[in-house]
Amino acid sequence: MASFIRNRAFALLLITSTVLLLLLLAFEHHIQRAVSTVSGRVLGLSHTYINQPTDKRPPHIVFILADDYGFNDIGYRNPAMRTPNLDYLASEGVKLDNYYVQPICTPSRAQLMSGKYQIHTGLQHSIIWPAQPNCLPLDITTLPQKLKQAGYATHMAGKWHLGFYKKECWPTNRGFDSFLGILLGKGDHFLHTEAGSGTPYPSTWKWEGLDFRDGLQSTNAYSGIYSTHVISKRVEHIIENHEKDKPLFLYVSFQAVHTPLQVPKSYLKPFESEIKNKKRRIYAGMTYCMDEAVGNITEALKNHGLWDDTVLVFSSDNGGRIDSGASNWPLRGSKTTLWEGGVRAVGFVTSPLLSDKMKGTVSRELIDISDWYPTLIGGVAGVTLNGSELDGFNIWETLSNGKPSPRVELLHNIDPLITPPSTWSNETTANPKNTFSTRTYAALRHRDWKIITGYQKVNNGWYSPAESSEPSIASEIKPGKSVWLFNITNDPKEIHDLSDHEPKIVNFLLERLKVYQSGASPVRYPDIDMDANPARHGGVWDSWE
Ligand SMILES: *[C@@H]1O[C@H](CO)[C@@H](O)[C@H](O)[C@H]1NC(C)=O
Ligand SMILES: *[C@@H]1O[C@H](CO)[C@@H](O)[C@H](O)[C@H]1NC(C)=O
Repeated sequence: MASFIRNRAFALLLITSTVLLLLLLAFEHHIQRAVSTVSGRVLGLSHTYINQPTDKRPPHIVFILADDYGFNDIGYRNPAMRTPNLDYLASEGVKLDNYYVQPICTPSRAQLMSGKYQIHTGLQHSIIWPAQPNCLPLDITTLPQKLKQAGYATHMAGKWHLGFYKKECWPTNRGFDSFLGILLGKGDHFLHTEAGSGTPYPSTWKWEGLDFRDGLQSTNAYSGIYSTHVISKRVEHIIENHEKDKPLFLYVSFQAVHTPLQVPKSYLKPFESEIKNKKRRIYAGMTYCMDEAVGNITEALKNHGLWDDTVLVFSSDNGGRIDSGASNWPLRGSKTTLWEGGVRAVGFVTSPLLSDKMKGTVSRELIDISDWYPTLIGGVAGVTLNGSELDGFNIWETLSNGKPSPRVELLHNIDPLITPPSTWSNETTANPKNTFSTRTYAALRHRDWKIITGYQKVNNGWYSPAESSEPSIASEIKPGKSVWLFNITNDPKEIHDLSDHEPKIVNFLLERLKVYQSGASPVRYPDIDMDANPARHGGVWDSWE
């Protein structure tokens, strides 16, 4: 009996606990369903989010800027130059045939980083010299800063030249996650030192220092290694270590093919018998080496599975220096001038993402270096922009689909600090009713027309490359002449000045210049500062404020 009772009690316990367990399971099931519904929604959300970087994340962007690279110095224009990699990339993409940059280094880089004309950054005059306390204004949101907002990793290798007197101005404080290269405008390609000479330094000064940095740190670890190799290796390293689900922005700012003319000997071989002129031969070797670097970089992108999703832009920063081996033939002028040889540049965009109808085409649409900022941020990365504050246009539809460029006008520059010699009369050749003085150094393009005003001091002719049998043509400019008008579409070489024949067009363009001038920021061109001397910073070019 006792055992029966025990058994009954046990059975009861068993039944009760089974019922309880079932109830509990049912409840738990209910809870679980509720939980899974909630977490289902959460998962659903995060699912979309997780897939976005791979499915919908913006393309990688590689921007390659060549330094002082002439219009006539790419293989597809001039077979004396060996640029098989650039030629191939360009032939697969869109060659920009009506593409403009600034005539010198700092201004082009300022426009690329800001999307603004010089008159809106205060950098209208000259470059930033090493000892000047000046830099790209810190209130500007730079291209890499904007791209970071879209989730990009941002890396830079090469030449900065947008000021360094304060650390706040340096690349890693202006939007780049990493930087390896030079802060100044040029330097020895092997030693990575720069002697501060030339304007605006007194010629007696010998300010020399190391200018090579990894991030904020000065380094001589690359001493003896050629700049193009250092830059290319660093870029390859970044590509190899990049997590490809994250969009990548690479700013490859070669020191090539800027002076000093230096290159490892092996790159001169193909030109030994072909180019007699020594400067031109070394320049061709530097170009050949830069082309090899571009080949290495694109190969790294392919090997690491990034290429199919990359937009690559190649651009020169200004016209070539005709006194340093470069050629802009058949265009007029040289680096620093407002003639086409100073501002019309080599450029192309290439990407597997371009529509098939665009691949292998030549675009004659008017495009300016300031256009990359809104094009890469708005067009490629898909980030919202306040267009009204910019001078650049988003030309992504032009590049990717062949739509007409939204740009019809291009202010090349207005530089109030380049003034005519005192022997010039105060009269101008323009209509006296106009208030834009043609004594002011300026140039503007409007559709087919280009006006140039002011004192054109040097390099006003047409300079044939050393390997050519065609003669150079000098240009004598009548003292006091201060306005030129060209139909660039019909006369890209700027041979036929039409300013006397088309007074209405001249006046229209002068009125446009006046409008730009009235909205211009004051020029910032500070005096040199003795504290910049590398001797005060352990033999290194460093910030001094
Ligand atoms: C390109 O890569 C090859 C092979 O690694 C290397 O020998 C060459 O120096 C590289 N060229 C440049 C310009 O970096
Ligand atoms: C657009 O401009 C306004 C006013 O200047 C500013 O407050 C806003 O942050 C800007 N938006 C973007 C996306 O940059």
